[in-house]
Amino acid sequence: MTRALILGGTADASLLAADIARAGVDAVYSYGGRTRAPADQPLPTRIGGFGGVSGLADYIRSEGITHVIDATHPFAAEMSRNAIEACAETGTLLIALERAPWTKAAGDKWIEVADVSAAVAVLPAAPADVFLAIGRQHIAPFASKPQHAYTLRFVDPPQAPLPFAADVIVSRGPFTLDGELEMLRVRGIGWIVARNSGGDGARAKIDAARMLGLPVIMISRPALPERKRVESVAEVMQWLGHSARLGA
Ligand SMILES: NC(=O)c1ccc[n+]([C@@H]2O[C@H](COP(=O)([O-])OP(=O)(O)OC[C@H]3O[C@@H](n4cnc5c(N)ncnc54)[C@H](OP(=O)(O)O)[C@@H]3O)[C@@H](O)[C@H]2O)c1
Repeated sequence: MTRALILGGTADASLLAADIARAGVDAVYSYGGRTRAPADQPLPTRIGGFGGVSGLADYIRSEGITHVIDATHPFAAEMSRNAIEACAETGTLLIALERAPWTKAAGDKWIEVADVSAAVAVLPAAPADVFLAIGRQHIAPFASKPQHAYTLRFVDPPQAPLPFAADVIVSRGPFTLDGELEMLRVRGIGWIVARNSGGDGARAKIDAARMLGLPVIMISRPALPERKRVESVAEVMQWLGHSARLGA
């Protein structure tokens, strides 16, 4: 019998959970516990880490999981690596549901970098207004360039003092092009730092930057070992149905 585990925390994972619930597939949805009030899911839900590769492998065995769907954020690299190892160890089928990265379009002023520290290095020495559109747990290295006026955007209000002075917008999105144009203009933003998350939910800032001719320091996704990867919920449902019919 098929029993699926969804590693979630993204809008795509919620869409998948809805389809899986509608199809009556036995499944569990898992959140990492990063946001305070995660959205309700139409499936039994667990919150919090598994305890590394061995913890996830134990969970897979004890829960009789036959299929793991890694629908985590493209930058949630540790969880994705753990899923690859735990599924290999337990002989469990694994698929990743991951949106394609954004690609540079005509008019984009992207500076592509490998990671956060490279992004810090690219920022100018002269004081500038910088929109840091990266997760809360990735901002600390920017404290080494305090001359800039930083604007941050988080899903939840920060609980602890920030590592440097900054203006914080608290909003979960999705964001509109007009809203982003307004925000960037009103704040006189001169530079944007973003991660190549892909998808439509976070794309508006990239389109707004192009329209305003702003440079974007674009952080590439972390490299992951090879795994089966699809970009749509329909493909995951087919994979689930397909492998179920093969009696996997
Ligand atoms: N990174 C982002 O920018 C971002 C943005 C939006 C949403 N999210 C979501 O937030 C969660 C945490 O992201 P992250 O970047 O902190 O991940 P990460 O660095 O890859 O994961 C760190 C640890 O958090 C636990 N974890 C992560 N996702 C989990 C899940 N879905 N279910 C159970 N445990 C999970 C695992 O703990 P153990 O080792 O103990 O199992 C993992 O080793 C992910 O589910 C991701 O989809 C992340």
